[in-house]
Amino acid sequence: MYIIGKQEVEAVRKVIESGHLFRYRAGQVATQTAQFEKDFAGKIGVKYALATTSGTASLICAMAGLGIGPGDEVIIPGYTFIATALAPLAVGAVPIITDVDETLTLDPADIERKITRYTRAIIPVHMLGLPCDMQAILRIARKHKLLVIEDAAQACGGSYRGKHLGSLGHAGAFSFNHYKILSCGEGGAVVTNDKNVYQRAMVCHDGGCVFFDAKAAAEKPPFFAGLNFRANEVQAAILNVQLKRLDGILKTLRARQAAMSAILAKAQSFRLSPTNDAAGACATSLPLLFDSEKAACDFVARHKVACWLFRPIDTDRHVYSNWQSILKQAVHHPKWNPWRMARRKIKQTANSCPQTLDILKRTVVIGVPFAKTIPQVRALARQMLD
Ligand SMILES: Cc1ncc(COP(=O)(O)O)c(C=O)c1O
Repeated sequence: MYIIGKQEVEAVRKVIESGHLFRYRAGQVATQTAQFEKDFAGKIGVKYALATTSGTASLICAMAGLGIGPGDEVIIPGYTFIATALAPLAVGAVPIITDVDETLTLDPADIERKITRYTRAIIPVHMLGLPCDMQAILRIARKHKLLVIEDAAQACGGSYRGKHLGSLGHAGAFSFNHYKILSCGEGGAVVTNDKNVYQRAMVCHDGGCVFFDAKAAAEKPPFFAGLNFRANEVQAAILNVQLKRLDGILKTLRARQAAMSAILAKAQSFRLSPTNDAAGACATSLPLLFDSEKAACDFVARHKVACWLFRPIDTDRHVYSNWQSILKQAVHHPKWNPWRMARRKIKQTANSCPQTLDILKRTVVIGVPFAKTIPQVRALARQMLD
């Protein structure tokens, strides 16, 4: 979250004073949540958006929406928040951990290596607001007839070759938790251009199908046993304000990131990490690549007081080797075990993706300082050249 203030307070106040906090209201379609879904779909450039309780819920709804389930393998990167791996498991499929390359996003070459006849989908994660190589990923997906679910949890407003992240695959998922570009504390959204996927995601997100007015609806949505991932009016009221802030937030971040990049590009001891679309990146982060782990560690030690920076390898559950539940194939009940429902024996260990670990150890990510002025970020970058 970059900005929150009086406008959000006012929006929440109005919702509370209305006495109606639930997203559905008999006879009234113009709820805060419906407004957010309409505007968010417009912003991302998709036909449908569905607000949910979280990014994880959004991924699960996207999976259920696309009919992914037991026996399916889903390719995910070894560098992402663990939620990307948990979502396929929630619908009975198995995450197949795949290397990232120096862009910190899925390595298309390793995707090809990890595809089996049971692979059903790929989840490219636009980690740290950095766009994946969507051209290569979509080409691979077409070749092998795979579904693509973009995890844009960290990449709201970013784009790849002019198209919004989240809009390029069969479905996209966003998170609005506290740490994301737009935030309402906890929240998420699923987006898609496919009406059937949207309706199935809706059923998944509201098992009671409260949205479904049987008399009024011209068409019946598909019915199956769903869950409850409904967003509420307080979340949506905050998000309606936050969405208006998005362009300004990205402009501020991009100006600061560009100012720092121009200086840091001259460094001798590291280089800017390669990117799949520099202009489309959200610019929340500025990753640098070092030749050795030691050089990366030394850099962090020298500059961590002046600004927020970290090695991705040190980010706990964002690195697959720390996903104990997944590596140990631990589930809440022995009879609901996606690895046992898989159509081949799958074993993944902390060493399954050595390329990922090597890159994450040698990369340092600078959190772009949103609140600093351009002269201040330039001064910071110059210090980093010493
Ligand atoms: C890449 C990625 N995917 C999914 C999620 C899950 O989002 P949430 O925390 O809203 O469930 C996150 C959240 O941190 C994330 O960073």
